[in-house]
Amino acid sequence: VSSQPITTDRIVIVGAGLAALYAALHLAPRPVLMISPDPLGEGASSAWAQGGVAAAMRDPDSPDSHSSDTLAAGAGTVDAAVAARVTREARDHILDLTRLGTPFDRDADGGYVLSREAAHSYARVVRVKGDQAGAEIMRALIAEVAATPSVQVLEGVLASGLETTDDSVTGVWVDPATGDKAPVLINAPAVLLAGGGSGGLYKLTTNPPRIRGQVIGMAARAGAVIADAEFVQFHPTAIDMGEDPAPLATEALRGEGAVLVNADGHRFMTDVHPDAELAPRDVVARAIYAETQAGRKPALDTRDAIGAAIKTQFLAVAEACARAGLDPEVQTIPVAAAAHYHMGGIAVDAEGRASLQNLWVCGEASSTGLHGANRLASNGLLEALVYGRICARDIAASVPDTKDAEAVDLTFTGTGTHPDPQAVEALRQCMTDNVGVLRDASGLEQALHQIATLEAAHAPCPNFTNMTATATLITAAALMRQESRGAHCRLDFPDTNGDTGQRSRLTLTEALAL
Ligand code: SIN
Repeated sequence: VSSQPITTDRIVIVGAGLAALYAALHLAPRPVLMISPDPLGEGASSAWAQGGVAAAMRDPDSPDSHSSDTLAAGAGTVDAAVAARVTREARDHILDLTRLGTPFDRDADGGYVLSREAAHSYARVVRVKGDQAGAEIMRALIAEVAATPSVQVLEGVLASGLETTDDSVTGVWVDPATGDKAPVLINAPAVLLAGGGSGGLYKLTTNPPRIRGQVIGMAARAGAVIADAEFVQFHPTAIDMGEDPAPLATEALRGEGAVLVNADGHRFMTDVHPDAELAPRDVVARAIYAETQAGRKPALDTRDAIGAAIKTQFLAVAEACARAGLDPEVQTIPVAAAAHYHMGGIAVDAEGRASLQNLWVCGEASSTGLHGANRLASNGLLEALVYGRICARDIAASVPDTKDAEAVDLTFTGTGTHPDPQAVEALRQCMTDNVGVLRDASGLEQALHQIATLEAAHAPCPNFTNMTATATLITAAALMRQESRGAHCRLDFPDTNGDTGQRSRLTLTEALAL
């Protein structure tokens, strides 16, 4: 049973992470309705980002060098024009965030303190209080949004579907984030999806609990083209002490000299890559995974390189260790490779437009072509900023302005559905077992079958179908890519087919037909 539809003149933004907040601010004074399942600042991946934002801030670094590193990490499928544009605009966004109140770490001369992360030619990651970049940037933007009257925020509301007419998006279906009330359709002049990626489709993930591919899934169900779905980044150093989601041990620790050791005390990365712990993220993730599978319990040793400073400079990591009763000053930190970032997502053009009319996408839910097969560390927040502003400007230029729009008053009635936690856990286990760090045709085919079985047993539940849609797309794209490239590693196709590769583009109908 559905409640009565609502019609608004506001631009609807689905999501409340960095891309969503930044876009809302850049749309101001255009009236915006922001939909967030959790209270602002909670539940968005951006708030959990530790390292920071990659940007060439000063000589001898340059946008060209940043762009070259982005292309190299992406393993031949990065869109060079996108990389050039994003890296060129990076510094301007750091200055904008500073203007908006982000307290970036500064040196004695007032210069931005820059961290080193894997596969960057220079120390290039602007940071806040060591590992607090995501939380602090979010705090500053949330304060600004609270002071911006054009932005209406609906908390406790979850988007579950898009309404379309002739390939044009006309509205968004929303559900209460908790409880069983019926969905409501909000008709709107334009929709911006900025609701995050899909890491939580995996059993071991660094993403907040709600981030399970729902936004990509709802766009795919409406017919949007999905690009690069097979490219899922596994972070090598999720803290493996039984928490779900697994806390992150930022790569910046390795940038400071922390090393990876196994249960024999052997520093195994020196056997694997000349850059050892600072090898590209996919290489380190596979090495960690191999150690875990062999029962050699990989761990991060911060003792010599960082020592007691971990408790003042890497607060999030120190707190996660403390919760697990571990003292990183005297003990190593157990780590595992965990789903961290989805390079793939809803395909967008240079203005952030999806393949459906009236639909824009930014942040991790999108696939702009910046990340290719393997995202360069700290390019995720950067992309959210660059495309958040691009989308805002393009929406403002192409959707007629209504100046004042009344606040949306939403009441849920009737009865609805919500995902069965057991089915969600079965889906996550299936993805980890078959569509994880290492893949092969038989596991991927088995996964497609299992996802379809779970979906059939659970239908109709739009929020679960959004998850199975994204899981299907990741798995189908992984099956179709008969090579290994970046984060996509096929045991049955270990070679890379040429230095450059085509990006994948897939609709849900095509994926389901496999
Ligand atoms: C990290 O701090 O290691 C994560 C940074 C990122 O994923 O970009």
